[in-house]
Amino acid sequence: MQIAIIGSGNIGGGLARAWRRAGHGVTFGARDPNEAELATLCTEIGAKAKSIADSVTGAEVVVLAMPFGALDSVLAATGDLAGIIVIDATNAVTRGTSGMTLEYGHTTSSGEQVQARIPRARVVRSFNAQGAENLANPTYGDVVASNFYCGDDAEAKHAVALLITDVGFEPIDAGPLASARLLEPLMLLWITCSRTVGTRDLGFKLLRR
Ligand SMILES: NC(=O)c1ccc[n+]([C@@H]2O[C@H](COP(=O)([O-])OP(=O)(O)OC[C@H]3O[C@@H](n4cnc5c(N)ncnc54)[C@H](OP(=O)(O)O)[C@@H]3O)[C@@H](O)[C@H]2O)c1
Repeated sequence: MQIAIIGSGNIGGGLARAWRRAGHGVTFGARDPNEAELATLCTEIGAKAKSIADSVTGAEVVVLAMPFGALDSVLAATGDLAGIIVIDATNAVTRGTSGMTLEYGHTTSSGEQVQARIPRARVVRSFNAQGAENLANPTYGDVVASNFYCGDDAEAKHAVALLITDVGFEPIDAGPLASARLLEPLMLLWITCSRTVGTRDLGFKLLRR
C-alpha cells in the first residue's frame, strides 16, 4: 500500500521501518521535509519526505503520528482525506505535575475527535497503547504481542489489521471507534506499568482458548 505518515519520530519512524520491510511505499509528511535526520532515515529505509500537504497525494492510508495538539494544523494541510483510511496513533494526553492524564476523560477520545474533524475519512485507532519500542520487535519469546484497533468502517479495519500483522503484532479487533475511549486509558496503564516494572520492554497480550 502507499502510506503517508505524518511525523517521523518514535511511532512514525518505527511504523515506517516495519512497513518498508513488508514492501509498502512510505512517504513522510513533515514540517521540514529536508531536515537532516529525516533525510538520513529516508535514505536508510527507502522512504520519501514531502510537505504534509503533498505527502497525502496518492496515499491509500494516512497515519497520524505527531502530537495530538498538532491535529488542527495537520488537517488544515491534508484536507478532509475523504475516503482515505486514517490511522490515528496519537494520544490526547495532558502532562501535569501528577503525570499524564487523558485530555478527553471517558466521554470521547482522540479517535472520535479525529473522525469528527474529517467525517469523510475512514478513521481507525491503533498503535497507541504500547511503547514505540514494540514496533521494532513485538515478539516476547514465543508470544506475539497484541495490538488493538477500532473503527466504524469494516473495510478500513480489515486493511489496518493486515498492516498491524505486517508490523509483527497480533491484531485484535476492539470494536467500534468509540472503543478508543478504552484504548487511551490502556496506554496510560502501559506507561504506569513501565514505571512500576522498570522497563519499557512490555507488551499486552489477549489470551484465548
Ligand atoms: N512514544 C511512544 O511510545 C508512543 C506510543 C504510542 C503513541 N504515541 C503517540 O504517537 C504520537 C507521536 O509520538 P512520538 O513518540 O513518535 O513523538 P516524537 O518522537 O516526538 O515525534 C513526533 C513527530 O511529530 C512531528 N511533529 C511535531 N509537531 C508537529 C506539528 N505541529 N506538525 C506536524 N508534525 C509535527 C515531529 O516532527 P518535527 O521534526 O517537525 O518536530 C516528529 O516527527 C504522539 O501523539 C504520541 O502520544 C507515542
